[in-house]
Amino acid sequence: MSTPKTLTGDDSIKTWLEHPVGGPIIRDLLAQSGQDPDVLRPVQRLAIKRLVKLSKGQFSQEMVDQLVARAAAGEVPVGAADAPAAAPEPTTESADAGDTVPVVERPEWVERLDQGRFAGKTVIVTGAGSGIGRATASRVAREGGRVIAVDVSQERLDDFASEHDGAEILTLVADITDDAKVAEIVAAAGDRIDGLANIAGIMDDMTPIGELTDAVWKRVFSVNVDGTMKLMRAVVPVMLARGTGSIVNTASEAALRGSAAGVAYTASKHAVVGLTKSTAFMYGPSGLRVNAVAPGATITNIEATFASPLGAQRVRQAMAILPDAAEAEALAASITFLLSDDGVNINGVVLASDGGWSAA
Ligand SMILES: NC(=O)c1ccc[n+]([C@@H]2O[C@H](COP(=O)([O-])OP(=O)(O)OC[C@H]3O[C@@H](n4cnc5c(N)ncnc54)[C@H](O)[C@@H]3O)[C@@H](O)[C@H]2O)c1
Repeated sequence: MSTPKTLTGDDSIKTWLEHPVGGPIIRDLLAQSGQDPDVLRPVQRLAIKRLVKLSKGQFSQEMVDQLVARAAAGEVPVGAADAPAAAPEPTTESADAGDTVPVVERPEWVERLDQGRFAGKTVIVTGAGSGIGRATASRVAREGGRVIAVDVSQERLDDFASEHDGAEILTLVADITDDAKVAEIVAAAGDRIDGLANIAGIMDDMTPIGELTDAVWKRVFSVNVDGTMKLMRAVVPVMLARGTGSIVNTASEAALRGSAAGVAYTASKHAVVGLTKSTAFMYGPSGLRVNAVAPGATITNIEATFASPLGAQRVRQAMAILPDAAEAEALAASITFLLSDDGVNINGVVLASDGGWSAA
């Protein structure tokens, strides 16, 4: 019988869970906080050390170090009899029970900066306090751009700015549904706006039309559609004056299919596609590029509630074909590509950045 692999912080969560020693240790840790190993399914391909950043301190680097030490010492927790007795040796090829083809452990994706890609450029990023907006604002700033970072949360913006010492970041607390605040954002940017990343957005409560309330419809449309439209409307004249500019709106898988959310969110993200295509068509000849990104499941702070049993049942059923969730930085890579001059020949597209979900 071969000796099981020595686990490290660079091994994936899947590898840990399948390991004859690592698996019981992780399951025991989860059980102590009342959690099921299924909570890790969407992130199973990530290196276990990535949990430190993703959990925002709840899972610390010391905890990773302790896990590695416990696994090395072969410390299988008492009573961990439910661990798979003959877990496959997790070398490079291991298959879980449901897989029909062997799954090869993938190398981890690492964000690589394109130094100076945004040098001399001013980019407005909404939703910059969290998730995809924060990752995008961060990438633009680290690639030399001047960022106008917009969010409703002062605390989140302060935290973002404090992580980017030396970068050119102007934070602005603003609700994108408020016309006066939108005017403030554009004034703060000045007469050169190279890019607008419209990322702020909210989810709905998964209700189908028969159970939809006016309040949910209005709230979701006001942020996702009105807010997106207001910022576009405000920056377009500034961009036209210089004959150049790139706008990236945030759609969703829910802009491509009916099975990813409730009716309000789904309709709102379809509307974002309409805003994108119309504007791309109208102003393409004047030098503007307007595109949308359609993220699949992404690990962020967005809140989705399930107010409808029918909605919950139908959406969860459809989620069976969902690929693994992505990190916000992976979405920032797609968004900054469209924002930057690398997207020079791309106008009016809806770029699915979803690990292939839309191909299913
Ligand atoms: N996370 C996903 O799985 C996913 C999937 C598809 C699409 N999206 C879209 O990506 C975008 C970003 O979402 P996220 O997942 O990063 O969410 P998030 O909640 O982590 O971040 C959104 C940020 O937007 C801010 N915000 C909300 N309303 C605002 C307003 N009216 N004015 C200004 N700021 C406001 C919030 O304070 C928050 O900091 C949204 O448009 C969302 O619909 C997310």
